[in-house]
Amino acid sequence: MPQRVRTAVFPVAGLGTRFLPATKAMPKEMLTVVDRPLIQYAVDEAREAGIEHFVFVTGRNKGVIEDHFDRQFELEQTLEVRGKTEALRELQKDLPSAGRTSFTRQQEPLGLGHAVWCARELVGNQPFALLLPDMIFRATPGVLKQMMQAYEETGGNIIGVEEVDPAETASYGIVARGEGPDSGFRITGMVEKPEPKDAPSNLFISGRYILQPEIFTLLAEQPRGTGGEIQLTDAMQTLIRQQVFTGVKYDGKVFDCGSKIGFLTANVVFALDRPDLADDFRKAVAHLL
Ligand code: UTP
Repeated sequence: MPQRVRTAVFPVAGLGTRFLPATKAMPKEMLTVVDRPLIQYAVDEAREAGIEHFVFVTGRNKGVIEDHFDRQFELEQTLEVRGKTEALRELQKDLPSAGRTSFTRQQEPLGLGHAVWCARELVGNQPFALLLPDMIFRATPGVLKQMMQAYEETGGNIIGVEEVDPAETASYGIVARGEGPDSGFRITGMVEKPEPKDAPSNLFISGRYILQPEIFTLLAEQPRGTGGEIQLTDAMQTLIRQQVFTGVKYDGKVFDCGSKIGFLTANVVFALDRPDLADDFRKAVAHLL
């Protein structure tokens, strides 16, 4: 049996420049899809997968994320006095229990790889899940839970992948697919943003990983890559020569909420999924169109 994955890392220190001015003073990860912040979707997905320790790598202007995962006594009391018990119950349900969250600062946004490396002391010498909170999924069960099932069989490193239009590989990290079914196949290589003619497949890395702690040593030695940032993919490309990487082509669909189109689409799709909103929202949109 591989060592259990009980810790998840959420890198939330990016500048979110594609969402300015919204992200000037507010973290991108607090943008809402319908009525839940992006970070809440990622935390919910991790809890469903059995994660017990939630590590956030934050930066300046991100304090509100810490507040979001704390109790708000004044608000709770007001809801109670007003008899809004359902809203109160929902608020309490969203919260990881006391002592299960940890926060550290990246200090400088030197890239995703650097943000992950900043979590090394909090994670320690154990496998961990990594969730990019601006990628949210419509998937049942959740994508990380599907990946955990593969992990229990193979151990090692797991990467969630999804199909992309073969003409668009140059916007994504693409894996090379080896032996095995969609629920767990060998990854034989990965390439960052290949042109379609150079892409080894059309399976892209969509923001969910289970990684072994040796990645931290590689990240520490990693020179700056594309855009002067320390890239996670560069470190994984080295680790793949030493350890097994398994791809999971999960059942579900990603929405890249770091981009405006992805974010707007997610709002429409998730609103139409909500029994309390779907009918009225459909009518409102139909009227507009
Ligand atoms: P992105 O690649 O979307 O970058 O980060 P970004 O800086 O947030 O956004 P843009 O491109 O300027 O609009 C993916 C995830 O990695 C985190 C981000 O917070 C986001 O959740 N990240 C990125 C860090 O924590 N630190 C970094 O240095 C870069």
